[in-house]
Amino acid sequence: MDLSADLRVLEAEVQRALDTLDESGLAVLGYGEISLVLGWPREAPEYACKRLPIFEDRASLDRYGEVVGRYVAGLRAAGVKVVDSELYDVPRPDGRIAAYLVQPVLPKDRLGPAQLRAADPADGHPLVEAIFDHVVAIASPRLALDEQLANWAWIDGEAVQIDVTTPFMRDESGADELDFGLFTSALPWLMRWPVKRFVVRDAVSVFHEARSAIVDFLGNLNKEGLSAWLPYAIEEANKRVAPEITRKEVDKTYASDARLWATMVSLRKADRVWQRRVRRRQYPFLLPPKINRHAG
Ligand SMILES: Nc1ncnc2c1ncn2[C@@H]1O[C@H](COP(=O)(O)OP(=O)(O)OP(=O)(O)O)[C@@H](O)[C@H]1O
Ligand SMILES: [Mg+2]
Repeated sequence: MDLSADLRVLEAEVQRALDTLDESGLAVLGYGEISLVLGWPREAPEYACKRLPIFEDRASLDRYGEVVGRYVAGLRAAGVKVVDSELYDVPRPDGRIAAYLVQPVLPKDRLGPAQLRAADPADGHPLVEAIFDHVVAIASPRLALDEQLANWAWIDGEAVQIDVTTPFMRDESGADELDFGLFTSALPWLMRWPVKRFVVRDAVSVFHEARSAIVDFLGNLNKEGLSAWLPYAIEEANKRVAPEITRKEVDKTYASDARLWATMVSLRKADRVWQRRVRRRQYPFLLPPKINRHAG
C-alpha cells in the first residue's frame, strides 16, 4: 500500500490548519502529549497517521526510522504484539521533511481506555494483567515500553501496543538511542533544556524499571478518570513487583506529573501566541483544545 500521494494531501491540510488554527478539515484521532494522530481518509478513516516533528534532513529521518524499526522488532521478539507501523515522508519546499508513522486504524471500542470504561472494576480486565506481564518481562536497562493504558488495544484476547513513535531503547553505555531532542522541540525554547535534562531523562528511566513503570500506569488511570479501577489494578500490580505499591504512592506520583504537564501545556499556548502575534510566523504544532484531567 503506497500512501505517499494521500499523505501529501494530508500534510497540505495540516499546513492549512496550522496557518488558520482551524482544525475542522482534519479527523483528529488523538492528541498525545506531544504528537498528533490523524485519521485518513477523513470521512471514514482507515489509517492512523502520526505526524512526527519536522526532520532537518534525510539522514536524521533515516536514523529515526532505523531506531523505530529496531524497537518494534525488539518488542515483538519479547512477545508483544505491535500494530503494523510504516514510516512515510513528505518533502517540504524548504528542504526539510515532514514525516508520518502510519498504522491501520483500530476500532475505538478496542482501545484500552474504552475497554475499561465498558467493564466493571469488580470483574477486572485481562488487558490490565497482560500489560503488567509485558512490563515485567520487558522493562530493563536497554529496552522499555510506553505502558500507559491509551497506548494499548485489546484485540482477539491479546494486548496490542500502538505507541511506537518514541522508542525507549538505550545502548550499552546507557545513552538513549532516540534523539529525544526531536520531540522536545515541540516545547517553548525556554523549557527545552530543563525538560530534556530532567523530564525526559527521568521519564524514560521510569519506563526502564518495572515497578516505576507500573506506578506510572496506575497514576495515569487517575488522568483517564478510571480511578475506580485502582484497587483491582494495585492488587494485580503487587502480585508482580515489590516493594508493595500503595494508593498513596500512586496518587502522589500522579499529582506531580499532572502539574508538570499542565504547566507545559500553558507554556506552549503562551509560546504559540508569541510566535504568531509577535514573531509573525507559523506555530508548527496543533495543541490539544483542553486537557480534561480527572481529579481521581
Ligand atoms: N492505530 C490507531 N488506531 C486508532 N487510534 C489510534 C491509533 N494510534 C493512536 N490512536 C489514538 O491516538 C492516541 C495517541 O496515539 P499515540 O499514543 O501513538 O501517540 P502519543 O501519545 O502522542 O505518543 P507519545 O506517547 O509518544 O506522546 C492513542 O491513545 C489513541 O487514542
Ligand atoms: Mg501515547
